[in-house]
Amino acid sequence: MDRIRLGVNIDHVATLRQARQAIQPDPLWAAAAATLAGADGITVHLRSDRRHIQDRDVHLLRQTVSTHLNVELAAEDEMVALMVNIKPDAVCLVPENPAEITTEGGLDLQKAGVRVARAAKQLKAAGISVTCFIEPDDKQVKLARKLGADSIEINTNAFSLARGGQIIKEADRVARAAKNAQKLGLGVHAGHGLDYFNLFPIVAIPEITELNIGHAIIARAVMAGLEKAVRDMKALLER
Ligand code: PXP
Repeated sequence: MDRIRLGVNIDHVATLRQARQAIQPDPLWAAAAATLAGADGITVHLRSDRRHIQDRDVHLLRQTVSTHLNVELAAEDEMVALMVNIKPDAVCLVPENPAEITTEGGLDLQKAGVRVARAAKQLKAAGISVTCFIEPDDKQVKLARKLGADSIEINTNAFSLARGGQIIKEADRVARAAKNAQKLGLGVHAGHGLDYFNLFPIVAIPEITELNIGHAIIARAVMAGLEKAVRDMKALLER
């Protein structure tokens, strides 16, 4: 029996910290807790606007994450230079739009080809594995290979939003892209919008070796931990 590797995306922990410009909750603690629970890797998105994860977080995560550190990143020169210096295990190149709430789609490798190829070359020269976050589309898969990516991460957002008969259609699209990517020698990852209820058709795709999941895990952590947090506070009020 094989098992898909789980990269836990801890951006939301940093979002909560930044909401109060506070020290807690520290994504470093979240990374340690996720690792103790068996996470195969830690994923963070260092956005150009630094809305959640900060440079300090990535530097310290590099020093403390002993499993696999994956940084999602726009293919911009300044961001790539930072990664060449910090050297995470992997960088997942993503499109970035300052107005978006979360990553809205995969890279358009036809439009972003030059930037992505330059970023991939610099990152690989620094010993960093390069992933392209793309839609489950054959053209994009081929371009990812051509531009020098080691792996693709298939955007599962459309799959996760699908309802009824669309679910199987979207899962098939992901499965087809996964098969084509593996044939080309690319590593196959997936993520975005996956949760405890919808991920089974994705887990069943044999070519997928890694899932990156954030929102669902952090949302569950809040709900699973709230009762204990209130009990802990109540205990402090006894006198
Ligand atoms: N993969 C990529 C490239 C992402 O941008 C995100 C969101 O930061 C994820 C995976 C995780 O998505 P979610 O938080 O919906 O699980």
